[in-house]
Amino acid sequence: MTIKRVEKLIYGIEDMDAGTRYYRDWGVEELESSSDHAVFRTRVNQTIELRPSDDPSLPPTPDPAKSTLRAAVWGVETAAGLQDLGESVGRDRDVREDNGTLWFADESGNTLGLTVAQPTQTEVDMIPVNVNTTEPRMNDFIEPKTQANPIRIGHVVYAIEMADREKAVSFYLDRLRFRMSDSTKTGGDFMRCAGGHDHHNLFLISRANRNAFDHASFEVENFDMVMMGGKFMKDAGWEADTAPGRHILGSNYYWYFRNPCGGNTEYFADMDRMDDNWEPRIWEESPGFSIWSLDDASMA
Ligand SMILES: [Fe+2]
Repeated sequence: MTIKRVEKLIYGIEDMDAGTRYYRDWGVEELESSSDHAVFRTRVNQTIELRPSDDPSLPPTPDPAKSTLRAAVWGVETAAGLQDLGESVGRDRDVREDNGTLWFADESGNTLGLTVAQPTQTEVDMIPVNVNTTEPRMNDFIEPKTQANPIRIGHVVYAIEMADREKAVSFYLDRLRFRMSDSTKTGGDFMRCAGGHDHHNLFLISRANRNAFDHASFEVENFDMVMMGGKFMKDAGWEADTAPGRHILGSNYYWYFRNPCGGNTEYFADMDRMDDNWEPRIWEESPGFSIWSLDDASMA
């Protein structure tokens, strides 16, 4: 009955050619691409749609950037759940129905959609790890790969104005029934869909005075794939926004790249998973960005 996952991302972008090349190199499946429309798909059937930023069909955004995310559509488990959430949201704002998707704005003015999720299955190749006398990879070797093929979109992240924080977060918790995983008073709020187990599917970063899209994150199989996918992006000429590392909150491996479609994209692997037995942690001070980062290593 609840939100399960990110279903679709819609970008409005200035340079369609660069945006299309970026997502092609990122490793998601290209379904179509032309000068005014491109569509990509993850392995579990989430879509990424690119349109020129002056396309009048694009929804509004509070983000002043010319290229940015214009809508995030969330996938709901059932049609009954979709109707239920639509009623929950519609108590105090306009909800527009279009072709099975409900459209509305969150408290910061970001356009959101809700639709029934249409996941597909995918096989994930897990590479066994040899340790001491545990030898699951007997008479085998690691296959070099050059490009990631992201499994799924795990989370989206917005920066929101600090003054709006409480009502912005409450909207997702109370009306869309997200769960809080970690909240840092100086950083922001990590929330997960009620129908999933990721440490976060949504992170709202508190900023002094700024509403903006920050990043979308894509799960790959493991740390090797974060590194191999990132190396492929660098070799293709794209700029990394961070060094690779491992986050403290969520524990996931990460590597961020600057996306010409707006914000960053992140490869992630091995994120913490939680259910309703998890007690949300409230941090007076943020515990920090990373357990380790290759920035640390390169300082040696
Ligand atoms: Fe992230």
